[in-house]
Amino acid sequence: MGLISINIDEIYEEKIIALENEGSGVCKVKGITVFIPKTLIGEEVRFRITEIKKNFARGKLIKILKPSKERTESLCPYYEECGGCDLRHQSDNKNLEFKCQKVQNAVTRIGKINSKVSEIIPSFKNENYRNKASFKVEEDRIGFYGSGTYQLVDISYCRLLEDEINDALSIIRNYIKEHKNNIKAITIKHGNAMNDLLIDIYSINDKQDEKIVEYLKTKVPNLKTIVLNGRTVYGNGYISQISNGLMFNCSFDSFFQVNPVTTEKLYKTAIKEAKLSKDDVVLDLYSGTGTISCIVSKYVKKVIGIEIVKDAVLDANCNKMINNISNVNFICGDATLEINKIKEKIDIIFVDPPRKGVDRKAIAVMKKIAPKKIIYISCNPVTMARDLGYLKDLYDIKKIIPVDMFPKTNHVECISVLEFKRKEN
Ligand SMILES: C[S@@+](CC[C@H](N)C(=O)[O-])C[C@H]1O[C@@H](n2cnc3c(N)ncnc32)[C@H](O)[C@@H]1O
Repeated sequence: MGLISINIDEIYEEKIIALENEGSGVCKVKGITVFIPKTLIGEEVRFRITEIKKNFARGKLIKILKPSKERTESLCPYYEECGGCDLRHQSDNKNLEFKCQKVQNAVTRIGKINSKVSEIIPSFKNENYRNKASFKVEEDRIGFYGSGTYQLVDISYCRLLEDEINDALSIIRNYIKEHKNNIKAITIKHGNAMNDLLIDIYSINDKQDEKIVEYLKTKVPNLKTIVLNGRTVYGNGYISQISNGLMFNCSFDSFFQVNPVTTEKLYKTAIKEAKLSKDDVVLDLYSGTGTISCIVSKYVKKVIGIEIVKDAVLDANCNKMINNISNVNFICGDATLEINKIKEKIDIIFVDPPRKGVDRKAIAVMKKIAPKKIIYISCNPVTMARDLGYLKDLYDIKKIIPVDMFPKTNHVECISVLEFKRKEN
């Protein structure tokens, strides 16, 4: 018996009244909020209660009694169990609407900001768009964890991934089906510049798993490099991506956006909104492999990038050279500490933090620097909205533009455009 008057394993039939932030349907049972994954607004569904918390419960869909007209075939045999994506069962247009609303809710409720979110920029592709996948391995099984569990769902094909990654997955599957191994995880990245692959293996016995390295070298046609437990054991440890007319080397532990074609649109939009000029000095916080820094460099006087991952900074310095760029400097370190040391007058800040958003202390320094514009790029509307809330006393939030970098999932990227408030006379 839970604290509330429903119990585990009880079965109910209810109408879905909303979708929560992560795309699960919401209904009420005896006044209690219940979240049911893979259900849609307006649907009447039968479900089993699977978890009871203090203020809400979770259920598992048993049967759709009355489907929504927005329901689509998932076309994925693993969809029911796999945690890889969560919105394959709703039309792409409705997913875009959901993502806009999700951003709007965050901005209004968390940031307490009045701005109306702009129309979402759709993805160029809704399937086979991802250039990176991280698989879990358990003996002869490889795949993703189930939604909300640590139970491996063994998969042979993922509809989100680029074909090259699915092809490599098949070869790795063959290996682990035939060979005893101690592999725990494998990440595959595909580079669009040379159509090549990076395979990054994590094993608890690398001596034994050196065998897979030889196997992959002969079987994966477009394999460029293999990393085993953080050590490059074949090739030179990176692949190359092209974005916005420039080439970017990207090491196994460096960040690169996962939807390469839509990334071009993301960066183009961010740069257009920044309205850069030749005299501007730009700060690129959380600069990764230097993508934004290098792309904006031709429009401005100077760019300073700050990034914590050493290999990403090495990549960024190399990227600057291969693209013949001389007005960009990269600093390796924690953005929160390094931003304090900037002596130059900064005109524009591009900030593209990890999911947890920008450290409060770094925001305080951004406000002290007081650039005329901040372009805030984020893959997490919740932390973005929080940070915009901290900045809104000094900055007008001019635009918030969602970008669908992650079709078929509840995730959404955003570009926020902030302008320093003019002083009233
Ligand atoms: C969302 S990525 C953005 C990278 C880059 N702007 C791009 O578009 O490819 C966030 C980056 O922040 C870096 N990062 C995370 N924590 C950091 C910190 N405290 N200081 C500096 N960089 C950090 C990560 O390594 C990652 O490269």
